[in-house]
Amino acid sequence: MPHIVFEKKELIPTPSQKDGVNFKFIAKSYNFTEKVRRTEYKIALENENKEFLLSLKPKDDNFMVKADKVTRISPVTLVKNALNAYVNLNEVKVLFSNTNNLKFKEETKNRYLKDINYFVDEFNSDKEIQIEIGFGSGRHLLHQAKTNPNVQFIGLEIHYPSIEQLLKQLELQDITNVLVVNYDARLFMEFIESNKVGKIFVHFPVPWDKKPHRRIYSNEFVNEALRVLKITGTLELRTDSRKYFDFCTEVLTNLPKGRITIDINKDLAVSSKYEDRWKKQGKNIYDVVLEAQNNDENINLNFDFSFDFKIDFNKMLITIPTKSIIESNYFIHVEELYTIEGSDNSGLVKVTMGNFDRPVTKYLYVKEGEISYYQGNPLPTSSNINAHEKLKEILSK
Ligand SMILES: C[S@@+](CC[C@H](N)C(=O)[O-])C[C@H]1O[C@@H](n2cnc3c(N)ncnc32)[C@H](O)[C@@H]1O
Repeated sequence: MPHIVFEKKELIPTPSQKDGVNFKFIAKSYNFTEKVRRTEYKIALENENKEFLLSLKPKDDNFMVKADKVTRISPVTLVKNALNAYVNLNEVKVLFSNTNNLKFKEETKNRYLKDINYFVDEFNSDKEIQIEIGFGSGRHLLHQAKTNPNVQFIGLEIHYPSIEQLLKQLELQDITNVLVVNYDARLFMEFIESNKVGKIFVHFPVPWDKKPHRRIYSNEFVNEALRVLKITGTLELRTDSRKYFDFCTEVLTNLPKGRITIDINKDLAVSSKYEDRWKKQGKNIYDVVLEAQNNDENINLNFDFSFDFKIDFNKMLITIPTKSIIESNYFIHVEELYTIEGSDNSGLVKVTMGNFDRPVTKYLYVKEGEISYYQGNPLPTSSNINAHEKLKEILSK
């Protein structure tokens, strides 16, 4: 992480400008719980049209400035330039800096690797869509993509080396009908239109016998899968785990929707690495296919995340709940509060919210009583929407 340590000095005035970087405001941490923390500052800035925060903290008798983790952006050069601009403007004595001599790993860029926001804002395909969840080595996905050039595939994986391996193969084999996303499959479907998908493959998912809440299959997952599947579309589980097979068939039979087909030791045109291993060990392979039989209503991805009221920020500093609010399918936890000195009724609220498995941390920026999400709204998932409604309720009190 690029950072600079420098001799303590008064902070820069804001707004101000240096080397193309616009420093907009500085917010100071506010002790709102019994736990007394060391003072920390968040420096809000804009560099090449991207807004983000730097974090400035005491380090021994000095100050250390680095990128704020929540608002981190890429490329990392924007952060390095902003850090250098800060110390140049403040004319401080630099004691340590790694901004100029270290090579920081830039994120992989590839035309087939898409950010989750792409699926919220842009994704559109006239082709049939098929999704593979947890593609691992990618053998099955590559085979499917090659044999079905008229299908648009989406590969979901959370293991980065597997993603990089698949991207490499797509280029090498000149396959152009796969999009790859690094996102939790349990939550991805929320961004796909209803009745659009022909197949969802879940091959050899981790059985999570000791942590069943981490399993891909759940009532919510199957319901979302059925919503995105078109009529005759299928959700296809292939597993070597008898326990997982029993668990999934129970989930499916308890949701009396769609038609279920079960097979044992069926041969497929391609065998994955895991499958080869289990077959060598003489294990049974189970297939459970659920076929959708209904059309579903469309979902709204244009949820309005605005706050349509003003608040008294100083009053809120005292009234905001310090304990987590936990509901059945979402939570809210206020992590930190920051005040902006010299600016009336303004500050930052750092809040973690949404789904328990994939929480999001955001800053609420309060400017003269008006609230907005710094760096843009959360993704329109049902748990984020519920958490936002609850935040509105808390803040409007
Ligand atoms: C046991 S491997 C199977 C890989 C491949 N399907 C095969 O048959 O060889 C399970 C894969 O699912 C991925 N995975 C686990 N949980 C996931 C989730 N919630 N969302 C997306 N991928 C996930 C893992 O990273 C891993 O690569």
